[in-house]
Amino acid sequence: MKRVITYGTFDMLHYGHINLLRRAKALGDYLVVALSTDEFNWNSKQKKTYFSYAKRKQLLEAIRYVDLVIPEENWDQKINDMKLYQIDTFVMGDDWAGQFDYLQEKTGVDVVYLPRTPEISTTQIKKGS
Ligand code: CTP
Repeated sequence: MKRVITYGTFDMLHYGHINLLRRAKALGDYLVVALSTDEFNWNSKQKKTYFSYAKRKQLLEAIRYVDLVIPEENWDQKINDMKLYQIDTFVMGDDWAGQFDYLQEKTGVDVVYLPRTPEISTTQIKKGS
């Protein structure tokens, strides 16, 4: 079984997120989403989410492409996660292109950056335009 992982905040879940999750799942058989906790968002990204971690998790768990949601609590857990969840492929949107190539070297996972869906983001929705 091929196992895929992706990381993110997924606040105010939108079709850009669904597109990302669908394509991530299609790269394997089992998709893990590491979901940024409220504390991590606030302390490390200065981001206050609209929906709490529990609500964002509930929404993700209702998506057919998602098999497991785990907490993302810091920047440094990724190498450990690759081993813990026996990950084959690490996926992010291409706004992160190049930033996680080290995981390929350190853990042997495939690192894939998928093109973002144009013209939609949580920030955009918050702005209301
Ligand atoms: N994503 C995507 N296409 C979009 C928006 C997001 O493919 N239009 C992807 C991101 O590249 C990331 C994942 O979805 O891999 C989670 O992104 P996140 O940052 O939570 O969502 P954004 O809508 O980009 O939120 P923000 O505006 O707060 O950055």
